[in-house]
Amino acid sequence: MEVVPLTTGSEVAELAADILEAAVRANPRAVLGLATGSTPLPTYAALIERHDRGDGPSYEAVQCFTLDEYLGLPPDHPQTYRATIARELTDRLHIPSSQVHAPDPDPDGLTTAGERYEKAIVAAGGIDVQVLGIGADGHLAFNEPGSSLASLTRVKTLTEQTRHDNARFFGSSEQVPRHALTQGLGTILRARRLLLLATGSEKSSALAAAVEGPLSAACPASVLQLHPDVTVLTDAHAGSSLARREHYREVYAAKAELPNGADN
Ligand code: F6R
Repeated sequence: MEVVPLTTGSEVAELAADILEAAVRANPRAVLGLATGSTPLPTYAALIERHDRGDGPSYEAVQCFTLDEYLGLPPDHPQTYRATIARELTDRLHIPSSQVHAPDPDPDGLTTAGERYEKAIVAAGGIDVQVLGIGADGHLAFNEPGSSLASLTRVKTLTEQTRHDNARFFGSSEQVPRHALTQGLGTILRARRLLLLATGSEKSSALAAAVEGPLSAACPASVLQLHPDVTVLTDAHAGSSLARREHYREVYAAKAELPNGADN
């Protein structure tokens, strides 16, 4: 695992944008997995700004898959993750909406929605780079503590803490849906590269548990330890509880000396 301890949220956003742009330059038909929530917004804003300036790559052949989708919202609700990712990123990069996918929350098809989403990811060729955030309780996507480390896309029940954390998007935690369709931890492990972004002191203990704690369903994000190509970008607040912070800094500083530029 490559852990990059940065100082500010904007450093995290600029480096994450560099990594995503490089993936799309290397493969204009790249398949991107996209987290919603607050953490990736500065990264998405950086990509949009570069694209608007004419500096970014073309995204017209890129395919995108959201990590998750709420259940029980009307299809035209602005907080569906399909609407959110279109508003915050994909429309602004001019990615055709037919190339932007989210789990299907239609109640009539719920029993097959997970399997259909897995098939759609496989049909697209698999996810090249999956952007991730981390919950204060260590959740990854909506895989709350206790989730199977081998799980695939399915319905999960949000914890009260997650509903409370996401109340800022809805007005109150009662309005936050109780259920969501989410990529499983096993789905996330199938992506070729994982890019976890962590900013803010409320993420520091979850990040330390994920990166340095035992592999455990009690901290779903610890499943990242099983993946061969993970980059974690953290600001000083989120990285403050990492015991090996100084070593990660040394590794990153010496990265250019390695033949393939990575130390996982
Ligand atoms: C979002 C998602 C969640 C968030 C996590 C952190 O698609 O799946 O796991 O990444 O809840 O949320 P923020 O970034 O809002 O702190």
